[in-house]
Amino acid sequence: MDRIRLQGGRRLDGRIAIGGAKNAALPLMATSLLTEQAVILTNAPALADVATMANLLAQHGLRVEHDTTSRQILLDGPATQFEAPYDLVRKMRASILVLGPLLARFGQARVSLPGGCAIGTRPVDLHLKGLEQMGAVIDLEAGYINAHVEGRLKGARIIFPQVSVGATENLLMAATLAEGTTQLVNAAREPEITDLVKCLVSMGAKIEGEGTDRLTVQGVDSLHGTTHAILPDRIEAGTFACAGAITGGELLLEGMTLELFGACTRSLREAGVEMLQEEDGVRCRRLNGLHGVDVMTEPFPGFATDMQAQFMALMAVADGASMITETIFENRFMHVPELTRMGARINAHGSSAIVRGVAKLSGAPVMATDLRASVSLIIAALAAEGETIVNRVYHLDRGYERIEQKLAAVGADIERMPG
Ligand code: UD1
Repeated sequence: MDRIRLQGGRRLDGRIAIGGAKNAALPLMATSLLTEQAVILTNAPALADVATMANLLAQHGLRVEHDTTSRQILLDGPATQFEAPYDLVRKMRASILVLGPLLARFGQARVSLPGGCAIGTRPVDLHLKGLEQMGAVIDLEAGYINAHVEGRLKGARIIFPQVSVGATENLLMAATLAEGTTQLVNAAREPEITDLVKCLVSMGAKIEGEGTDRLTVQGVDSLHGTTHAILPDRIEAGTFACAGAITGGELLLEGMTLELFGACTRSLREAGVEMLQEEDGVRCRRLNGLHGVDVMTEPFPGFATDMQAQFMALMAVADGASMITETIFENRFMHVPELTRMGARINAHGSSAIVRGVAKLSGAPVMATDLRASVSLIIAALAAEGETIVNRVYHLDRGYERIEQKLAAVGADIERMPG
């Protein structure tokens, strides 16, 4: 298995091209199950999770072509096979996103239950309850979700008891082909959902309430193909903003907008990072020292849970203390023991962690159990004295395209060591 070697202490300066968003690409790819015409996605990132979704759709019978040079994915239906097997779903929980589209268009689906994962239990009850409200009959048997519907799904008023990105996406896609009107209340408002709404509308769907927590979908008989450009990855951009800041550097995040950052902009500014919107992207520049800032993760436009680990690494070397509270996922502090091994002073208790900034971190061999935890160790290593070896690089490849090349191009001393 590959490892990453990193020598800390270099200042990052320059421009980084931000790729298409992983969390937008995955639901956008699933829209291809809703039509028999081709869906073409441009600005597609070459990530392990995107490859997993491509494999899943291919085994549903779609023609899938991902050209990593032109960054284009072509998906051409219709699906001929309605089972999402355990082997693929266990690799990536977002596989559950095929459930709503398969059910809406073919009246049947069999999808493996995703099971637990490193950052908590992560149930899919909201997805299933919503589909049941729309007339689906669902039973769980031998680790699989078996779902079918007589005729078409029926429009329904679905009130989410808790904001869920995935459940909003699944039900939104299902509702586009349902009979009648569906209202999604307390829907997630992440930019990736707005991107999905835009793509579905370009396929002929009737959706109102874009960007709000109340989406109204008027079902249509069929959808047609489209070409859609995937929006920039705000988590990749935020990760590089933290990476630049911890080294005292200045980066231009190409293609990014401040609006996409939500509350992360304010937190980074309070920490001492200048964030400026420029014509071709967002400029992030560390002004003087870093200051401790309290953050609490929340659904968009609040501070993103997917940025929590990276921000904690930044706070590890800030002046003063910072309290970081995780409200979205249980058990999302697995980076804490590894950051502590690098010299960070962090005390985690329940859903909160107190970070007391230290003057210096030191390099160490480290290992992480999830995507964002891994990248927080890279950020810490950039500022650490000495060498860090990050093991289990496959976590990084799920969500960051060529991270070592992008960081090396702006001045980091970093390399991938083939396993
Ligand atoms: C998506 C993102 C992930 C991000 C997360 C929160 C993708 C592919 N992944 O994950 O990177 O960290 O949003 O912004 O877009 N929940 C339930 N029942 C359900 C569904 C969710 O209880 O049926 C809970 C979850 O356990 C969690 C919370 O709701 O505590 C939010 O999860 P959700 O927004 O659904 O996350 P994902 O869509 O899985």
